Amino acid sequence: GGTLAGAAAASGRFAGTAVAADRLDDPAYARIAATQFSGVTPENAMKWESVEPERSRYTWDDADRIADFADANGQDLYGHVLVWHSQLPAWLNEGDFAPAELRTLMTDHIAATAGRYRGRVDRWDVVNEAFDEDGTFRDTIFHRALGEDYIAEAFRAAHRADPGAELFINDYNTDGLGPKSDGMYRLVKKLTARGVPIHGVGFQSHLVLGQQPEKMRANLQRFADLGLDVVITELDIRMDLPVTRKKLLRQAAEYQAVTDACTAVRRCEGVTVWGFSDADSWIPGWFEGEGAACPYDEAYRPKPAYHAMRLAFTLA
Ligand code: G3I
Repeated sequence: GGTLAGAAAASGRFAGTAVAADRLDDPAYARIAATQFSGVTPENAMKWESVEPERSRYTWDDADRIADFADANGQDLYGHVLVWHSQLPAWLNEGDFAPAELRTLMTDHIAATAGRYRGRVDRWDVVNEAFDEDGTFRDTIFHRALGEDYIAEAFRAAHRADPGAELFINDYNTDGLGPKSDGMYRLVKKLTARGVPIHGVGFQSHLVLGQQPEKMRANLQRFADLGLDVVITELDIRMDLPVTRKKLLRQAAEYQAVTDACTAVRRCEGVTVWGFSDADSWIPGWFEGEGAACPYDEAYRPKPAYHAMRLAFTLA
């Protein structure tokens, strides 16, 4: 039959998935990732702790592997992530750096990582999860040392390293209208007005069954109206276990609604799921008693959510 990638392409968009480098050895996993999806995002392989676990010792193997996979399959590569408070190497997190030194470490990291994949990454998450739930800036090592200017500096460094990449800021719980999304809106409005090279906003969309975000389409549209592209970057919809037929059908309707919210907005470039199979999802490891958040089940069979997402792209 058809594919998610094909249905998305017919609406002028991409259908992406997060991939784990060590799962590409499994032929069943690799086949679905290569054929059903037109974009890939490294789930962990490009994060700072992955690429520079010890200071100045770089480990690019897993990231290279995913970039090569995307090239081999003609897929978009979504780089994730340059500046984030989580999954920082211990030497950085526990180091006591003066502000000027931290600024140099940050811009050097961006130059090394975005520079290595220059011309191959279509979109970069330059800054991830900069906000608290109330829409104020999150207290991170970067914000503490440099104030909110670390964000503009990070985008300028990424643009120098890879002038052709589309540069995104990404967050969760900003999918619908609300205080956190308002904080994001105020920031990107200011950045674009100041000429900072920012091209898009990523909406992670780690959702909970039965709790659809408030006015998602209207929210995506207001960012698009600023002249920015938007992407659903990390979609999954988790549920309390055990799985029932009823929950799976409700989940399908919610996958369809999220995909519809994207296709209703001209500048929404695509939807990426945060792992395609329940067998590989981060959810059970983080939320006790929850799971089944992905469009494929643990045996790599498509769930109702898969068909609903495909249908939404097809009808768009
Ligand atoms: O690689 C080690 C392995 O050597 C070790 O044995 C094992 C034991 O815990 O841990 C492995 O590292 C884990 C890593 O994923 C790779 O599997 C970490 O513990 C675990 O914390 C890490 O979780 C990742 C999480 O980000 C960390 O914050 C998830 O896989 C990943 O899906 C998740 O992704 C984030 C996005 O980057 C940003 N948005 C939210 C999203 C979900 O949290």
